[in-house]
Amino acid sequence: MTSNLFRKKSITQSLEHDSADANGLRRSLGAANLVGLGIGAIIGTGIFVLTGVAAANYAGPALTISFVISALGCLFAGLCYAEFASMIPVAGSAYAYSYSTLGEFIAWFIGWDLILEYLFAAGTVAVGWSGYVSSFFEGIGIHIPYSISQSPFGFSTQEGWYMTGSIINFPAIFIISLMTVLLVLGIKQSATLNNIIVFIKVAVILLFIGFGISYISVDNWVPYIPEETSPGHFGISGILRGAGVIFFAYIGFDAVSTVAQEAKNPQKDMPKGILFSLLICTILYIAVTAILTGMVHYSELDHPAPIAYAIDKVGGGLQWLSPFVKIGAIAGLSSVVLVMMLGQSRIFYSMSRDGLLPKLFSGVHKQYGTPYKSTILTGSVSALVAGLLPINILGELVSIGTLMAFVIVCVSIIVLRKTNPGINRPFRTPWVPLVPLLGAGICLVQMISLPWDTWLRLIVWMAIGFVIYFTYGIKHSKLNIK
Ligand code: ALA
Repeated sequence: MTSNLFRKKSITQSLEHDSADANGLRRSLGAANLVGLGIGAIIGTGIFVLTGVAAANYAGPALTISFVISALGCLFAGLCYAEFASMIPVAGSAYAYSYSTLGEFIAWFIGWDLILEYLFAAGTVAVGWSGYVSSFFEGIGIHIPYSISQSPFGFSTQEGWYMTGSIINFPAIFIISLMTVLLVLGIKQSATLNNIIVFIKVAVILLFIGFGISYISVDNWVPYIPEETSPGHFGISGILRGAGVIFFAYIGFDAVSTVAQEAKNPQKDMPKGILFSLLICTILYIAVTAILTGMVHYSELDHPAPIAYAIDKVGGGLQWLSPFVKIGAIAGLSSVVLVMMLGQSRIFYSMSRDGLLPKLFSGVHKQYGTPYKSTILTGSVSALVAGLLPINILGELVSIGTLMAFVIVCVSIIVLRKTNPGINRPFRTPWVPLVPLLGAGICLVQMISLPWDTWLRLIVWMAIGFVIYFTYGIKHSKLNIK
């Protein structure tokens, strides 16, 4: 049993598995599409929603520093992802990497954890999308009733779980269904739509930066680091708490690595896709935060649509930008849902091809070349989650799941340099083991800063995963066939 748990799929096996798969996924994505997918997955709720809450409650104008800290953790983890994605360019991301390095049990563990990340991220962002769409329609005089636009269950630390009085979050289910159809139709079509959306959202952000800059009042930046009021609220501790909260804004660059098997030239393009998308988003985030907190005093920013709020607040010549920002946010959130679901279906696909999940999940559509069954399943579960659960519960679960995946990827880089030093590494993470250790360390600190209930939910989710592994995966694993 012990040897079973730690049996590994060799890297050659992983790569052969890929090329031997005649009915496999299509290699149709170039470097630009991969960078686009990264930006598509990254820019969303984090910058359009969370920036305001985090500036108002935790870091003030120094939220720019929080963004830098969180970016560093992601950059170190991103460098490790880049090495893996170029070395083992198969679908499945961290799941596939750990199968070759740390063995089947850890691979299952991480795969199950990635399911948590992507399924719930799609759900979280769909709930945010629903909020923006409702407010957009409200603005043009169309009212979407509360009973069909909110989650029926709510959760707060003081009250625990409660019923909100709503029946279902219909817009959230709608966007997930729409993206599911698109993903079934084709990776190329999905990537093209993603590129269009990315263009719109980046354009809106650049417009905000370009026009907002002249509305900055330097007084709003003084003091840059407001004095701490209680632990985690302003001062240095607030900057750190802020970094934990806006970590969500960076999630998504890792999703690029799930489509490695659909990249035309993964060795060269995977690292570009991961690192450029992260770099571009970091620069945009810091600029937007600096301008936002310069336009309006941070204490006023606790608003679900802080960028639109700041524009309305300064009024005058900038008013025309407000509807564009809402459209940019709606478009932006759509592409995050798209890429997260894309990532999830590829994880299911990989795990099923290895025998750890039923065969059903790896069926590829003859005409469209997409893993349609796993895509439809992903869509159904995400829709259920998004239709019923509140955004705060979903968001924290996504963060803890993602941070855990980052830690394991960083550690795996160190392990693999020792166990397989000679393997071809088209991209090498610099300064190993320093960079992976720093990446794992920063991510661990952010995990520890998350509330205990989130840990508990993570533990329950992982326990369910263990039951599935020991009752199904271990028996059906392809590695049983000698
Ligand atoms: N980074 C993505 C967002 O902010 C998940 O919506």
